[in-house]
Amino acid sequence: MSQLTPLIAGNWKLNGTKSLLSEFAHVFNSINISNVDVLICPPSVYIDTLVQLNENTDSILKVGAQTVSEQISGAFTGEISVSMLKELQTEFVIVGHSERRAIFGETPELVAKKYQTTLMNQLTPILCTGETENDRNNNLTFDIVSRDIDAVINLTGIESFKDGIIAYEPVWAIGTGKSATPQQAQEVHHFIRNHLAKHNDEIAQGVRILYGGSVNEKNAAELFKQDDINGALVGGASLVSDKFMSICQHAQSSL
Ligand code: 13P
Repeated sequence: MSQLTPLIAGNWKLNGTKSLLSEFAHVFNSINISNVDVLICPPSVYIDTLVQLNENTDSILKVGAQTVSEQISGAFTGEISVSMLKELQTEFVIVGHSERRAIFGETPELVAKKYQTTLMNQLTPILCTGETENDRNNNLTFDIVSRDIDAVINLTGIESFKDGIIAYEPVWAIGTGKSATPQQAQEVHHFIRNHLAKHNDEIAQGVRILYGGSVNEKNAAELFKQDDINGALVGGASLVSDKFMSICQHAQSSL
């Protein structure tokens, strides 16, 4: 872990309840995890619940969304706009999660538009990228992450990474219990930082790069020892408060 403030983000996906959010707000109320940003991205219908819980407690949880429309407003049934998220005091938006890409057909160009729309509304995008097992076996890992990052750079310029975050999430590690090894993750994180540095070294050194894919309370400490890992994007373990707390504590201990 470098000098950047670690971010531990929970992506609840299509899971969770209002009462689970209450439990989290209670567990993360006034706790002493300093110098670590802790974020929960619940399903969007629960965002306001989390905001209300934060207002009524001293919960340290930051609030994020799992996706957003690239459109500003209009006839787009079922979509949610950045300005709506902003009105609810959402701070972060995950864009281009591999499930959005694979199941909902989001292309690198569409994800780049979502990244741009998020930033233009002063919210912080978390750009996800990562290869499938097949890609890795064919030595395409670096091509995939370059493709996803370059789509953003081509649309919005390298400056857009001054206020954005990247999450490296190898698809083969998501929900499988088979995390990338700390060395495998570090190799890709280092590549990503170098890739950005070709455009602007200062921006590259300042970008938080999260690792995601079967992060849990047992493997987090070793992952956080890596120079270019600045936190985690956690799925399954972010639904269990003591596991998620333990991951946050490991991030704090790594500083
Ligand atoms: P798991 O932690 O369940 O593998 O999910 C990772 C993920 O997809 C977070 O966005």
